[in-house]
Amino acid sequence: MTYTLTTPLYYVNDKPHLGSAYTTLACDALARFQRLKGEPVLFITGCDEHGQKIQRTAEAAGLSPQAHCDGVSAQYRELWERWQISNNRLIRTTDPRHCQIVEQFFARVEASGDIVEGRQQGWYCVACEEFKDDPHEAQDPECSTHRRPLEWRDELNLFFRLSRYQEQIEALIAQPGFIQPASRRNEVENFVKQGLRDFSISRVNLPWGIPVPGHEGHTFYVWFDALLGYITALLEASDAPDLDTALSRGWPASVHVIGKDILRFHAVYWPAMLLSAGLPLPAKVFGHGFLTREGQKMGKSLGNVLDPGELLERCGRDAVRWYLLRDIPFGDDGDFQQQRFTDLVNNDLANTIGNLLNRTSSMARRWFDECVPPATAARELAHPLAQAAQTARSTVLSALDQLDFRSAAEATLQLAIAANGFLNEQAPWSRMKQEGTREQVAEDLYAVLEAARITALLMAPLLPDLSGRMLVQLGQTVPNSGAEAVADGAWLSQLAWGGLCCGASLPEPSPVMARLELDDPL
Ligand code: MSP
Repeated sequence: MTYTLTTPLYYVNDKPHLGSAYTTLACDALARFQRLKGEPVLFITGCDEHGQKIQRTAEAAGLSPQAHCDGVSAQYRELWERWQISNNRLIRTTDPRHCQIVEQFFARVEASGDIVEGRQQGWYCVACEEFKDDPHEAQDPECSTHRRPLEWRDELNLFFRLSRYQEQIEALIAQPGFIQPASRRNEVENFVKQGLRDFSISRVNLPWGIPVPGHEGHTFYVWFDALLGYITALLEASDAPDLDTALSRGWPASVHVIGKDILRFHAVYWPAMLLSAGLPLPAKVFGHGFLTREGQKMGKSLGNVLDPGELLERCGRDAVRWYLLRDIPFGDDGDFQQQRFTDLVNNDLANTIGNLLNRTSSMARRWFDECVPPATAARELAHPLAQAAQTARSTVLSALDQLDFRSAAEATLQLAIAANGFLNEQAPWSRMKQEGTREQVAEDLYAVLEAARITALLMAPLLPDLSGRMLVQLGQTVPNSGAEAVADGAWLSQLAWGGLCCGASLPEPSPVMARLELDDPL
């Protein structure tokens, strides 16, 4: 079965920010991991291009909404290419095929009797594109996320009968694996317990949206349209825009990865819509935390937004991926701190991992004819580094299955730390000066090179670039985890201890990871 995973479809009201890059990088690591394990993967990302927010942004810029969307979605496309994100799809909700999928889906929901007319009164946040629950205590209510005034709305809209799905949604969110991390479940449970209310799925007087068939003057509410983007994205380039064809390409999704602010849409509204249309539900919704910067919320007004393109330019892919995935438990909020960023990158990647490979390979080349030294005992599973590698391997495999990138990164690093410790204890540089120790030195260097090989392989999902450079330096082939990878699971067997061939030539070493020297603030 296809492993389908999705990022949110990002609003194109503004250029990409670090929050979107964060989700996308995490999904990329997960997609690569699944491919390396041999799973067929469909990794979906995209842009959410309708709604009032986009319409207003385009107006303010003096552009037509379409021209505005074309411009910003191109920035997303380019950014993901530069980050080497391995997405298989980039769906835009202004794609004409999407319009047809939305219409077909709506027809099924309407046929289920779940569309009714009603009056929508309430306070709306355009930035969230959401009605807010109970803000009327305040005189001038504002959105707690955006700190902007809410707008009063009173419209005749079409409603989706969410209230009919109370019991099914309660049962769904009670399933242990559905909402992750488990800590986020409470918040959704409390919301559902209050009783699900029907929600409006159309807008009147909002031209920048998909027209609702049979209901003149109505366009679809942006969230109704956007969530369906996950299904349109399943279509292959040559497919006709047919809902059943799309579904046959990889539905249901294995996981929707999102930020915690949009959990309700994914864990309540979306499953109810799917139930109404008689379609299978996604297996999991993972709500990650929010990033702050040096303890402060990132925002334009504070002028402290980290631009992911600039970050990439100045620091490189490996550094940023490592910091975000290794330092912040995925699911918790996290704080981007420049000092910690440089410290971690330099200590973990340049010193611990990079130097390990560099110095070991230099010694092996110098003393063993530029080749992997001969070894027997070091290839046995009883060797202490073989044991360390086995522990790292099983931790990484189970951690990544649970989207626990931090534990995976730590386990990988621990293997490199163990190898460094072993090297320092055995001190082959002193041994080589003594008589009759050449065999032991060969065994020790083999074990450390082998540990470096496995460290590199274990890093492949998180840091494909650095992993590749290390493997090349070890004379190894680099497993392909990219969008076009043939998922054959070879990676899993490469992870077995003893894979380095004695006598194979070792390429000339060059540093695999440059130190990060940031003189100016980012
Ligand atoms: N368009 C909707 C999603 C529709 S999915 C069918 C949307 N877009 S968004 O561009 O506003 O947000 C995209 C994602 O970025 C959300 O998951 C949100 O949680 C995440 N983040 C926004 N700011 C963030 C941080 N500061 N930190 C981490 N993630 C953040 O919502």
